[in-house]
Amino acid sequence: MQAQPLLTPAPPGFEPVPARILTEIDTLPCDLYIFRGPRPILYASCGGDLERVLDRARRGMSFMVREIDSELLRGALAAALPKVMANNAMTAVERSKTAYSISAKVLTPIFTRESALDREGIVLTHKAIDAITTHLLEDEEMVWAMVATMQKHPSVHTHAINTAVYGIVLARFARFGPPDVIRDVARAGLLHDIGKNRVSKAILDKPSHLDSGEWMEMRLHVKAGHDMVVRALGYQPSYAHMIAEHHERCDGSGYPAGRIATGIALDSQLVGIVDAFDALTTRRPYRAPVSAFDALHIMRVGMRGQFSDELLREFIKLLGGFNAMTAKMEGADLARVMGAAG
Ligand SMILES: [Fe+2]
Ligand SMILES: [Fe+2]
Repeated sequence: MQAQPLLTPAPPGFEPVPARILTEIDTLPCDLYIFRGPRPILYASCGGDLERVLDRARRGMSFMVREIDSELLRGALAAALPKVMANNAMTAVERSKTAYSISAKVLTPIFTRESALDREGIVLTHKAIDAITTHLLEDEEMVWAMVATMQKHPSVHTHAINTAVYGIVLARFARFGPPDVIRDVARAGLLHDIGKNRVSKAILDKPSHLDSGEWMEMRLHVKAGHDMVVRALGYQPSYAHMIAEHHERCDGSGYPAGRIATGIALDSQLVGIVDAFDALTTRRPYRAPVSAFDALHIMRVGMRGQFSDELLREFIKLLGGFNAMTAKMEGADLARVMGAAG
C-alpha cells in the first residue's frame, strides 16, 4: 500500500494533470500546458492532436490545465474511467493505479472546503465510483489490485475512495446483495464524510484529542453530509441512510442517535466497519497509523460489540486471504485475530 509520488506543483491559476490519467480519453476536452522554463506554455489545444499528447503521456511526462478548465477535464476523465478499468492491455495493478488517480482528480474539488456541493458534483462522483463498482463486481483480479494499490495518505478524498473500495470488496465477498445494493454501498462509502466540509479545519487538523465542544462539532458531519447530498440532488438517494448512520455502533455507543444493532441498517453497519478500518490504518493528525493486523485486533477486541460480528469476521477473512496471498500476513496471524475475541 504505497503512497503515490506527489505531483510537480502548478503555478497559480493552473492545476497539474498526471500523464497516466489521460490514457483513455477520446478527445482533448480543454487546452493542455507544460512547463517551458518557469512558465506554462500551451502544448495542445482543446480538440487538438491527441496522439501527440498520448505519446508524451506514455513517456510519463505530466501536463497542466487552467483551473477554469478543471470541470471539463474532470468530466472527460470520469467518462474515460470505464475504459481504463476494462483495458486489458494494462496490468490489473496499472489499471488500478490509473483508476485511483482519475478518481482522485475527479473527486478532489468536490471534497475541498471551498467548493459547494452541487448536483453536477454528485453525479460526477456517482459516475466515477459506479465505473469502479461495475468492474470490481466482474473482475476478481481487479479487486485484489485495487486493495493492493490503495493509497494511505491522509486526505479526505483518499479516505473516501478507500472506504468505497473496501465497501465494494466486503459487500462482494459477503454476498451482500445484488449489484444495485453494492453500488449504493460504494456511493455511500465515497460520500460518507462529505459533511466534514462543514467542520472547521482547526478541528479536522488538530494534532491532539478533541475537547467536548470540538467533538460536538465533529459529530455534526454526519447529519451535515446527509443533508448536503439530499439538498444537492433534490431528493433522498437510496444510500443516504448510510451517510447518516456510519458512526452508529451496534452496542449503542455510536452517534448521532446511539441506536443499537437492530436499529442500524446492515449496509450502514458495513460502511461503518470499512470506514473505521481505513481510519485506523491511515495517519491522522493526532496519531500514527496502525497496521492492518492491529486495526482488526482493535476492532475485534478493543471495540468489542461495536460492529456486526458476522460482517467483521467476513472482513477479517477477506483481508486475511489478501494478505496471505501477498505474504504480508501469515495464516497464524489471521488465526490469532479470529481467535482473539473467542
Ligand atoms: Fe465519519
Ligand atoms: Fe470516515
